[in-house]
Amino acid sequence: MNQPRIPRKRTYLLCPPEYFTVEYAINPWMDTTTPVDRELAVKQWHGLRETLLGLGHTVHELDPEPGLPDMVYAANGAFVVDGTVYGARFRHPQRVPEAAAHRSFHEARGARFVAPAEINEGEGDFTYLPEAHGGLILAGYGFRTEPAAHAEAQEALGRPVVSLRLVDPRFYHLDTALAPLDDGNIAYFPGAFSVAAQRVLAQLFPGAVVADQVDAFAFGLNLVSDGRHVVLNSEAGDMAAKVAAAGYLPVPVDLSELKKGGGSVKCCVAELRD
Ligand code: ARG
Repeated sequence: MNQPRIPRKRTYLLCPPEYFTVEYAINPWMDTTTPVDRELAVKQWHGLRETLLGLGHTVHELDPEPGLPDMVYAANGAFVVDGTVYGARFRHPQRVPEAAAHRSFHEARGARFVAPAEINEGEGDFTYLPEAHGGLILAGYGFRTEPAAHAEAQEALGRPVVSLRLVDPRFYHLDTALAPLDDGNIAYFPGAFSVAAQRVLAQLFPGAVVADQVDAFAFGLNLVSDGRHVVLNSEAGDMAAKVAAAGYLPVPVDLSELKKGGGSVKCCVAELRD
């Protein structure tokens, strides 16, 4: 029997894809020879924004900057837990300047900002489950974020950080392979993780929704949930069925253009846990 899935109001940060292109390739999904329909990307992004607003959440916007085509993937700019912002430090030079835009946004709101010394890509590789084991941070490494950033995040945020090794370059960020469904439960694709990390996840989350390769390739794990409504890529029909079977309510959105940059719903949405 599934327990009732209760939504909790969230505050999100999004950045419109006004300058979105695929002009460099820093992950296996990006192909600089595939044309991007920016107008469609903007339209689809507005659909995502309207969906989140329609679910009753608060949405803040970051001003997009010319020359930063990946800025639409707002999840990568920082990681916030209980009002403390652990800043990002991007691995690839093309994205480095995005961190300052996020920092300014958070400092303007009066948040406590911790500047990182280690390379890390914010919520791309970090997520937080307030009700799991007393409040647990899950962190990915292997492609973007340095393991040293996991220790740095633990010092900055005062929560235990569980390090998980990613092993498949197509799932280069934690959020391409794992997502919280509520404050204590996750969905994940085991094949993206080392055997040891799979063992760790199975121990910590015996009630997890376990996804397969089809779900992962459809960016079905790159989802945003408020504890009840699971907003996910409309291509991920099998994943929608799995979360529905677990008692959640899937809310599909079409983000086909943004998939060309190697991201979907979660990549576009930073959660401000303040
Ligand atoms: N093109 C971007 C990159 O490779 C995509 C980032 C996707 N964001 C995410 N949170 N996974 O960095």
